[in-house]
Amino acid sequence: MYKLPEDFIFGGATAAYQAEGATKEGGKGLVAWDEFLEKQGRFSPDPASDFYHQYPEDIRLCEKFGVNGIRISIAWTRIFPDGTGEVNQEGVDFYHNLFAECQKRNITAFVTLHHFDTPKTLFDKGDFLNRENLDAFVDYAEFCFKEFHEVHYWSTFNEIYPVATNQYLLGTFPPSVKSDFSMIIQCLHNMMVAHARTVNLFKDNNYPGEIGVVHSLETKYPATDSPEDQHAAFLDDALSVRFLLDATYLGYYSDKTMQALEEIAEANGATYEFLEEDFEIMKKASHRNDYLGINHYQCHFVKAYDGETQIHHNGTGDKGTSVYKVKGIGERIYKEGLKRTDWDWLIYPEGMYDILMRIKEDYPHYNKIYITENGMGYKDEFEDGVIMDEARIDYLKVYLEAIGKAIEDGVNVKGYFLWSLMDLFSWTNGYNKRYGLFYVDFETQKRYPKASAYWYKRLSETKTIS
Ligand code: NOJ
Repeated sequence: MYKLPEDFIFGGATAAYQAEGATKEGGKGLVAWDEFLEKQGRFSPDPASDFYHQYPEDIRLCEKFGVNGIRISIAWTRIFPDGTGEVNQEGVDFYHNLFAECQKRNITAFVTLHHFDTPKTLFDKGDFLNRENLDAFVDYAEFCFKEFHEVHYWSTFNEIYPVATNQYLLGTFPPSVKSDFSMIIQCLHNMMVAHARTVNLFKDNNYPGEIGVVHSLETKYPATDSPEDQHAAFLDDALSVRFLLDATYLGYYSDKTMQALEEIAEANGATYEFLEEDFEIMKKASHRNDYLGINHYQCHFVKAYDGETQIHHNGTGDKGTSVYKVKGIGERIYKEGLKRTDWDWLIYPEGMYDILMRIKEDYPHYNKIYITENGMGYKDEFEDGVIMDEARIDYLKVYLEAIGKAIEDGVNVKGYFLWSLMDLFSWTNGYNKRYGLFYVDFETQKRYPKASAYWYKRLSETKTIS
């Protein structure tokens, strides 16, 4: 049994593109996803959870169910429809109203500036591979810091590693490029430079509040004790975890990281450019992060692999159909005997504990941590307005226990945001992968609390995981 701290945040997480809907309303500009999804013709980002209109109800539900924090992202193209230039006042007003509603009900807002939704105009010019777009991001961030005084917690980016690999390795995100490691490495680095520039801007100008970044940190383990498998896990981890933590907290890439990076780059014929001035900026920012946001759902067991890259993404929820074999890194396998979700995500809470302990040990000036996403995608059964999602409760319990144990062992975790507050639009699965505490009938937009919502309410009241 673990007791969580009195001031702990029991939050719910959302993201603009997955929750708001209304992609053609309120003067919003286009993002690359609009065209990508339309071309695919599988599902539409509208209405999503219609948060654009339903937010007062969602915030009311937060209050009613003990959810005292909400993770929200600002849609860059509601503020700057073309990415830069003219401001769309309607978008600015929308977020002021939303933050006012949070304040009214005492729900702390954690606001992310970029959650996978780069403006189309900038995306078409190379997204974060184009250094001019870094300037545009920093300008947009500055506008938000000056405008939204009601926000106390800012995150620059959501999940830089999935941005790079979904866009340029898996091909599941636009522009759907497969296996270009030059792009992957450059995108990771450039986004970390943009993060560091934004942190420096925030701190140099003494904006009130706190700033951090949200990384997806999936723990990697060798599939066996063989030196080959250990090396494969080391390479996978170096690119997906250590690279980002080094950039965030050291401001340079450690020898270990560079060794792995060079090996991966060589195997894939990749080139990249890191400038001296980038490291000056990153070093300056590396002791100025107020917190780290961690998204953690699963871990990976990695086996040596020396063939060509082969990837098949499980987008349907059919067990066992994902294939992830990457040239120069390794193969992620399904470890026998471990439970998996409907989408093949390994349920292994030790991964959460291990990543938290590692941050404390490797980057002792991390300040504090918020778990900014954790939760379980599930095919919820809706029967007469009742959703008995016991499997989700079991998942949440074991992951929260792992967090409780890490806190007991000295890690400064200050809050938890369950992904997701309500059912949302899913980037690669549309509407059948549900994560919410609140079931959304996407036809009527009516919300129904699931069994997990009642469980979470009790947790928030008692602060005791049992
Ligand atoms: C992480 C991302 O931030 C979010 O957008 C996504 O829907 C969830 N993971 C679930 O896959």
